[in-house]
Amino acid sequence: MLGVIRPTAGRVGALSLSSAYAHAARCNYTGLRTLVTVTDRKSSPVVPKGPSTLTQPDAASTVNTQSSGTRAIVHGDWVLFHPVYTPEELRSVEVLHREAKSFSDKLAASLVKLSRWGYDFVSGYKHKEIPPGKDMSLAELRKEGYLLDDKQWLSRILFLESIAGVPGMVAGTLRHLQSLRLMRRDNGWIHTCLEEAENERMHLMTFMTLRQPSLFFRALVLGAQGVFYNMFFLCYLVSPRACHRFVGYLEEEAVVTYTRCIQEIEAGRVPEWSDLPAPQIAVDYWRLEPEAKLLDVIYAVRSDETTHRFVNHSLANLDQKNDVNPFALREPDMHIKGKKIAFERNEAESYLNESRQLLQEEAEKRSADSRT
Ligand SMILES: [Fe+2]
Ligand SMILES: [Fe+2]
Repeated sequence: MLGVIRPTAGRVGALSLSSAYAHAARCNYTGLRTLVTVTDRKSSPVVPKGPSTLTQPDAASTVNTQSSGTRAIVHGDWVLFHPVYTPEELRSVEVLHREAKSFSDKLAASLVKLSRWGYDFVSGYKHKEIPPGKDMSLAELRKEGYLLDDKQWLSRILFLESIAGVPGMVAGTLRHLQSLRLMRRDNGWIHTCLEEAENERMHLMTFMTLRQPSLFFRALVLGAQGVFYNMFFLCYLVSPRACHRFVGYLEEEAVVTYTRCIQEIEAGRVPEWSDLPAPQIAVDYWRLEPEAKLLDVIYAVRSDETTHRFVNHSLANLDQKNDVNPFALREPDMHIKGKKIAFERNEAESYLNESRQLLQEEAEKRSADSRT
């Protein structure tokens, strides 16, 4: 598998509206982002009526010109790099665990276990296996605490996603500051960290469309974020390796949670979500089919968590000060990330060499093309 090469993957279906946009798409020029999902454009742009465009949340990302009778909807490509998955990739994810070897590994794994226990305790959640042979209705199973209902699933997901977006931003910020401070290159780590942070935030934005959390819930998130951001910041200053390992273990838990959620939906135990359409923001972000369901979204989210699991465990295996991020140019696809917990340092080096080889071949091909 060649994996996902950054400048174009994740930009599936990119079409251009003018030569300027086409140029932007080819050059990956972020000042004028690529435009996608364009259909049947026939007339000049529509001047929006009503309140100021600046007050519309999707004004910078989506233009709907249906009202002009042109049947054209344009979704701008407004996000950082992220993979778009094939159906086979979505189903090639396995629940994996990396054995803790060093003292800092064991500390990171224990902290994740403690955080999970704390959250389960506060939210009153206990994972109870349904005893074999018990003939109970869905309502009884939920009442007895064997199954979560859709609202409980959503609360767990929203809380976890609001926290999951913190580490990548902290790591990106600290590495950015270090690069400025020491006046040296960051070895390609910053983008990967920031992409992870945005990816987690998109998970939150997606699930937020299903329910507006209560004031109490928001207060809980505010408190947790205040504590977690500052603690993670301090810990990353002391040991970035232990922090990436911690995130790797946290993402192992996220893969377990979403795998369980998928199994429950497919077994018909969350009937409220069985046929629920995918939110539009998710269709845009993961380039899903227009008729995609929430279940398809959860498969895509689980694949993202698998990427975080793989990337963070791999980064934790590197020399934090001197090594280049092997995923700066491309990432392995889900057939690798879903079945392998991480690259060891020597594997990361081979992967980077392979990327350099691909880059060289591409450069030679372009130079040969330009001569003909
Ligand atoms: Fe997430
Ligand atoms: Fe994640």
